[in-house]
Amino acid sequence: MPNGMRKTNQNPLAIFGGTPTRQLPLPTGVRISTTARARVLEMMDSGLLSLYYSGPWARRFETEFAAFFGADIRGVSVNSGTSALSLALSAAGIGPGDEVIVPAFCFVAAASAIVQNNAIPVICDVEPQSLTMSATRARELISPRTKAVLVVHFWGYPADMDSISTLCSTEGLTLIEDCAQAFGATVRRRRVGTFGDYAAFAFSVRKHISCGEGGMVICADHSRYNTLRTLSNYGKGPDWDDYERLGFSCRMAEFPAIIGLDGLSRLTEEISDRQNAGRYYGRSFLSHGLLTIKEPEWGESVYFKCPVLVPDGARSIRDDLVKAISAENISCRIPHRPLFRIDWLTSYLRKNSAAMTADDCPVARDAHSRLFELETGPWLPMQEAEMSCEGTLKVWRHFAGTRD
Ligand SMILES: Cc1ncc(COP(=O)(O)O)c(C=O)c1O
Repeated sequence: MPNGMRKTNQNPLAIFGGTPTRQLPLPTGVRISTTARARVLEMMDSGLLSLYYSGPWARRFETEFAAFFGADIRGVSVNSGTSALSLALSAAGIGPGDEVIVPAFCFVAAASAIVQNNAIPVICDVEPQSLTMSATRARELISPRTKAVLVVHFWGYPADMDSISTLCSTEGLTLIEDCAQAFGATVRRRRVGTFGDYAAFAFSVRKHISCGEGGMVICADHSRYNTLRTLSNYGKGPDWDDYERLGFSCRMAEFPAIIGLDGLSRLTEEISDRQNAGRYYGRSFLSHGLLTIKEPEWGESVYFKCPVLVPDGARSIRDDLVKAISAENISCRIPHRPLFRIDWLTSYLRKNSAAMTADDCPVARDAHSRLFELETGPWLPMQEAEMSCEGTLKVWRHFAGTRD
């Protein structure tokens, strides 16, 4: 039995052998429409499995995905979100010894991509309202070696792009957005992904669009687009034997492109389901002392997941709470550790005389010990969100009532 929880006879929690709120966990697999199934068969019959051997689907996915962000935007499809980030950094000319400012709360891929380009991640604390990168702190971290800011719209919450864009343009820094969790999130009604020089997306599990594995980089500038295209394809120019520069081999194949297009056709619906779930949790939890992270005054979240903060006095039982909610068949997790707690990264930073610790990021350090993430999708219509809310509150009430 988790510490701090006592068994009672009333309304038993699933973790104590009671009936779970939801009978079975919800599926997390990708929906595939009959249109997509037919396209996959068509693609297999054609034998054209790759864009570079005349397959049409990756090209079409790039065009339609980019159009979601604006008529002037272009996309290069790749095999993962991490490749998308690496490609963007490489296209921006980030190399050995360059510093790239990155928020403490992000997925490890942002730091990996920086290190894969032999650059130095400089970990920036988050601002308390949205838990996204603090523009004020980012400004303090700028040094003569700083070349770029890699901002991450984490959990679907848009970062403060007005302040961060201004900072980058006044300081002459490249701005890269990691939008893997924030398809369609907005800042003053403008979609994230359109503020930076480059924006990276991922189509892996639970994303607003998922195609198994895949990624995309978008940008508005034509020459940046050409560089991205070249870099994604061995550094090769348009001609057969045209090896212009060192490059990656990270193209998207035709199958994921077909599934990605299918997801794109449901994107607006997926965004509104997740927003409805996240906002419903926020309203319902408030009177019970659980806080969700509010959408910032500058924009709208698309709730990749719903981050929830337990009150200060309950941080010691946060892990037990997560176990008990999960036992109700509600997807609930402790968030990934912040960058300053990733051992390979901290030793890389030490070796490069760029050591950082939790003390450099007090907001992220405090929040991480109080946070848990609650499901918002995929496949989470309102009645399921109500059930997740009911199960979470069942555990929280029990817990709050039995805490020493
Ligand atoms: C914010 C963020 N960035 C990057 C990635 C990396 O994407 P991939 O797993 O496709 O490499 C992920 C994946 O979950 C992510 O959540």
